[in-house]
Amino acid sequence: MDGIVIRPMIEHAGAVPRIAAWFFEEWRLIYGGETQASVQRRIESWLTQRQIPTALVALSGNQVVGTVALKEQELPQFPESPWLAGLYVVPEFRRHGIGALLVQAAEREAASLGVERLHLYTPGSQQFYARLGWSVLGHRLLPGGMVAVMCKQVGVSNVRH
Ligand SMILES: CC(C)(COP(=O)(O)OP(=O)(O)OC[C@H]1O[C@@H](n2cnc3c(N)ncnc32)[C@H](O)[C@@H]1OP(=O)(O)O)[C@@H](O)C(=O)NCCC(=O)NCCS
Repeated sequence: MDGIVIRPMIEHAGAVPRIAAWFFEEWRLIYGGETQASVQRRIESWLTQRQIPTALVALSGNQVVGTVALKEQELPQFPESPWLAGLYVVPEFRRHGIGALLVQAAEREAASLGVERLHLYTPGSQQFYARLGWSVLGHRLLPGGMVAVMCKQVGVSNVRH
């Protein structure tokens, strides 16, 4: 889709309550006992730049139409770090490549922060991520159902072999 711009979420902090409502609606089962207010507080902790955690938004004009985040921790069963999370595109803007743009922007941001390997988990979008070069590490049963844990090499190792 033409005219989509990816920017740091911190520049659009006013959209956070709306984003929290989207996330709460979408991932209520996975969140277990969390409230929308606690989800919002977590998103507020991503309002940073050039560090992890952080988040990006997709803009159509001045309207926030999608999000993605980078986090240190995600699943206690997986000590790996960091993670791509919070990928969301509002329903009326889906299937125009915005999700892929957000994933690629998060990968670039992580690489620029020195990250070599990024992780994520997904209940139903394994194919979408596989097409973007992500591989399955394993599966885990969460309160909301089974998820695939995936990873991708986004940066170059500085370790000499
Ligand atoms: C998953 C999600 C982020 C994808 O966002 P999106 O903007 O629709 O993503 P894209 O458009 O880049 O790709 C989605 C699909 O549209 C297809 N597509 C991309 N551009 C297209 C176009 N111009 N026309 C038609 N289809 C297109 C892609 O091939 C892809 O196909 P797939 O579903 O078979 O993999 C979005 O559906 C969403 O927010 N879902 C709810 C939350 C969620 O599931 N988050 C991620 C998992 S944790």
